[in-house]
Amino acid sequence: MDEKKEQSGGKGTIGSMDFNDFDTVLSVDEVAHEAGKLAAETPSRQRLSELVGKEPLLTIEGLRAGYGKMQILHEFDLQVGAKQSLCIIGPNGAGKSTVLHSIYGFTNIMAGNIKMGGSDITGMNPNQKLKRAGIAYILQDNSVFPDMTVEENMLMGGFLKDKQSQAREAAEKVLQKYPRLNERRKQKAGVLSGGERRLLEISRALIMEPEVLLVDEPSIGLEPRFIKMVFEILDDLLNTEGKTIVMVEQNAKKGLEFADIGYVLVDGRLAMAGTGDELLENPDVGRLFLGG
Ligand SMILES: Nc1ncnc2c1ncn2[C@@H]1O[C@H](COP(=O)(O)OP(=O)(O)O)[C@@H](O)[C@H]1O
Ligand SMILES: [Mg+2]
Repeated sequence: MDEKKEQSGGKGTIGSMDFNDFDTVLSVDEVAHEAGKLAAETPSRQRLSELVGKEPLLTIEGLRAGYGKMQILHEFDLQVGAKQSLCIIGPNGAGKSTVLHSIYGFTNIMAGNIKMGGSDITGMNPNQKLKRAGIAYILQDNSVFPDMTVEENMLMGGFLKDKQSQAREAAEKVLQKYPRLNERRKQKAGVLSGGERRLLEISRALIMEPEVLLVDEPSIGLEPRFIKMVFEILDDLLNTEGKTIVMVEQNAKKGLEFADIGYVLVDGRLAMAGTGDELLENPDVGRLFLGG
């Protein structure tokens, strides 16, 4: 097949050594360079809309955003429908986290707009995003408070509730859903395993009952069995609870297997868009991001 040729041709050979299809010999710089070529043709808005296949819930149009005066995202577009999942992959430093930061309100937005259910939310700050727009952001960094108990950490997720009692009620509901956390509710979060900490981070974001979850690298730093657990939890939130998920994932295979829609971001520009399966089968994606 063509795919195979693409994967094993040229780059698969160094000197007399012949690498099999699953080895990758591309350096980080080569990936960046090769990926840059993909960005030459940005998918059209029409294409993004076809991938959603219905009225989108969250849209980004012509976004230029960055930090201070430094622009990271260039004319970036995104569309995802209710109860769908979208995964952004791409080289390190491409601006993937910056997309999530922009949706949540952490960046300087220079142009473009972000809409939720047709309403413009571009200028909202993170608290408004969480409380009024129903968007929650799950931090990439380890963000639990190690000296606080699991329960106390959960309550932090409800700080925007009007009453403390509402936060308690919501926390209780989420704890009942995850026995694994409930059993440890009185323990300090610092003693949790990596996988349990990630579960706590996700659970805490659920307290405000968001409609959209922004998830940055859920698998980072986790052992394989916990990676599996985290994706099962996200799958349940998507398919049972009807959440919409926009995710960034360094583990491109996992992310694309999970997601309905996949985007490749290169140098702050949308380089490719397809269904998760289409991108998994795409030879360029395979060569550059799937390690083979
Ligand atoms: N808080 C910040 N302040 C200034 N520059 C930042 C900040 N966060 C990220 N950047 C820069 O923005 C660019 C894109 O970063 P990021 O969105 O984190 O990439 P990715 O998630 O794709 O690895 C990088 O050049 C990075 O150094
Ligand atoms: Mg990142």
